[in-house]
Amino acid sequence: MAEADQADLLRTASLRDPKVSAYPNAYYEALRLGDPVHQDPQLGSWLVSRYEDLQTVFADPVTFAAGHGFRMLYARGFIEEFREIMARDGGGFVEDAVPSDPPYHSRIRKLTEQAFTAHRVKTLEPTIAAMVGDMVERLVERGQCDAVKDFAQPMTIQVICEQLGFDQIDGHQVERWSHAVMQQVSAMQTRETMLENAAQMAELQLFLRARLAEREDARHEDMTSDLVHAVTEDGSRLTTEEALSVTRALMIAGNETTATALANLFFLLATDPDQVAQLRAIADDDRLLSRWVEEFLRLYPPLRCISRGTTREVELGGKTIPADSHMLLLFASGNFDEREFACPHVFDPARANLGRHLSFGAGSHRCVGISLARMEIKVAAREIIRRLDNFKLEIAIEDIQFVPTISTRTMTSLPVSFSRRVT
Ligand code: HEM
Repeated sequence: MAEADQADLLRTASLRDPKVSAYPNAYYEALRLGDPVHQDPQLGSWLVSRYEDLQTVFADPVTFAAGHGFRMLYARGFIEEFREIMARDGGGFVEDAVPSDPPYHSRIRKLTEQAFTAHRVKTLEPTIAAMVGDMVERLVERGQCDAVKDFAQPMTIQVICEQLGFDQIDGHQVERWSHAVMQQVSAMQTRETMLENAAQMAELQLFLRARLAEREDARHEDMTSDLVHAVTEDGSRLTTEEALSVTRALMIAGNETTATALANLFFLLATDPDQVAQLRAIADDDRLLSRWVEEFLRLYPPLRCISRGTTREVELGGKTIPADSHMLLLFASGNFDEREFACPHVFDPARANLGRHLSFGAGSHRCVGISLARMEIKVAAREIIRRLDNFKLEIAIEDIQFVPTISTRTMTSLPVSFSRRVT
């Protein structure tokens, strides 16, 4: 990109612009090369785009505080009214406990991890593989589907809701709740959409309160019970409000991001025949398939950025950032930083620093559901490539619509067709 075009892009563009938000790579590159720690007046945020600066921020959760940043973005422009609605209709405004700051965050994190061990995930794999296999098999019969609504969302909702012990739940309801929760960090709500989302979130809170109360009375074999009854070494337990907040975080984080990844997977298969061949060649080798999934997540990061708030004045990338500034960590940009990843736009599962991508964040807030997310994507990729062939996008790429948000890059719908694989 010519220097003048780059400067122009930095002056005029913003992640709030739907066109930039849908295809942000040119903007990320302009940021990395032209102004790596960039103050965006439209968003009122500092954008951090280089890999090295992102790692500096992740490594210092005291100066660059997750809870502080989250609260600055949360229900932006409407927070007072939002709180009132939750107090009136949702049994109270339940603060998010997971995006919080040390030392409080360390306690919550330890308790959350008790519901989320790698061992638990490993034992789940055969059950999830069977469930996904059935889902894909049903799609084969149809020959086409909306990869978002007919596969990605129902699959990830079923997995996390079963884990939480909410088996009988209506998946469409969970979709509405998830959308409402994620919209609070979108920076793109209008008052009208905020009111709709607040009503959904009030309903979600009432639902979760009832499920938690059942498990306080009697322990079930599920993650929600593990959270309610989790105890740290010093005897600390989650309060009911904290348990509600953590359960909500798992329910939403557990499906939105992974569903975005699965829709991206279908997009890749429908637009890149080389990747279909590459995936097919390695699908039965667990180690190679896991590497393929990591490289896929580097190139198609479901979450594009996350908030931090500065607790003091601080230097970063040659800029002085005042205390109480809102920052957006653009790890989707870090994944394409040519200083860290050679030929960053090339899909190369053999690259030596494969595991250094930032799609799951880094440091003390690194994704707690990482092993479940990786496993779900791996299992889906394997079941899809084993059963389906001749993937085709049934919509022009430029007609694909995205959820209005700065936080994720999520397609609202993705019509695709395919045929049964003949072996
Ligand atoms: C491909 C799917 C996923 C992606 C890309 C993803 C990404 C991320 C990222 C980037 C963070 C860091 C946030 C920060 O730095 O503030 C995070 C945190 C988190 N993720 Fe995930 N996630 C995924 C799946 C999941 C799943 C399946 C769950 C749970 C079932 C989950 C639960 C969480 C939680 C609770 C946190 C907060 C951790 C903390 O602040 O201590 N995520 N995730």
